[in-house]
Amino acid sequence: MNNLVKINPQAPEAEVIEQAATILRGGGLVAFPTETVYGLGALALNLKAIHRIFLAKERPDWDPLIVHVRDMVMARPLMKRLPPDFELLASRFWPGPLTLVVEKDDQIPGEVTAHRPTVALRMPWHPVAAALLAATGAPIAAPSANRFGRPSPTRAEHVVEDLANRVDLILDAGPTPVGVESTVLDLTQSPPVILRPGGVPREELEKVIGEVRLASAVEDETARAGLAGPGMSLKHYAPRARVELLDGEINETVITLKRRVEELKREGKTFYLLANYGDDRLYAQTLFDQMRDADSQHADVILAIMPPARGLGLAVRDRLLRASGSPAASDGEKDES
Ligand code: TXA
Ligand code: MG
Repeated sequence: MNNLVKINPQAPEAEVIEQAATILRGGGLVAFPTETVYGLGALALNLKAIHRIFLAKERPDWDPLIVHVRDMVMARPLMKRLPPDFELLASRFWPGPLTLVVEKDDQIPGEVTAHRPTVALRMPWHPVAAALLAATGAPIAAPSANRFGRPSPTRAEHVVEDLANRVDLILDAGPTPVGVESTVLDLTQSPPVILRPGGVPREELEKVIGEVRLASAVEDETARAGLAGPGMSLKHYAPRARVELLDGEINETVITLKRRVEELKREGKTFYLLANYGDDRLYAQTLFDQMRDADSQHADVILAIMPPARGLGLAVRDRLLRASGSPAASDGEKDES
């Protein structure tokens, strides 16, 4: 790959950053690491470049993009007004894996926000992302650098798999430390609503601003995880292997797991096990990489043990539920559709 360039994750080389910034200024696309996942970046105020993001990802135009900023000076003019709690949250969690949805200023093209009156803003802490934003001096729109519907990329190799020559440059800084995407928090509602659980846990937000709600889509899926039945959720973050969820009390889960393993062996199917071994941080960090690993091993089925719905576990559960294409956890009784 001649558009893949290595970059030091702690101390990004100035000449590589300048090369990337030049491409962005010219309306090009640069895939770069953030602390959560790799992003597919373009200048947020450049309409042609924004259009290229949607084409490269095969992303539907109704799905709005996150706009990344370097500091509050860059963020402020993008917002119509400062909602309550914004400054408190930004001072506590920025830079970091928290995205804040606020009323947008008119200068942001409607294409960026899928013609919503709001914009999602995020200040990443990853040194490469921060350096790139400093070099361009302009906001960068960046969705995760995967093809739409595929697991988000936590390594440059994943970006190559999905987007290869659809992007002008890929900055390879190794695996991303958080591994799941940012928490998306809607500040236009009161109390604020988590639209997507992610790198900053709900509990941490509540320590700072009090009550935070979960969007009903998130809540319903998490609540229904223990029930069998046909799912309705959009299949997303999906590996090619079928994802079966195992949820509930640990002793029962182990019994179910053992039975499923025996059944799959009898059917001559191969499987891949996903579990947290008591560490939600590590589960989040390795989740998407393991989904892709299961695919590269041609596993028929991924057996995923759901972590408890707290801390980073909430984000992991959300991604697993979406990957399974069904909010229903398998108890082994499900048919083989
Ligand atoms: O960690 C992350 O957030 C990564 C890195 C690259 O920053 N980005 C990311 O972007 O995950 P993307 O596009 O894959 O996911 C953005 C999510 C989508 O679910 C989108 O619907 C939501 O944020 N979103 C963006 N703008 C929004 C808005 N104005 N209102 C509500 N939701 C919004
Ligand atoms: Mg994404």
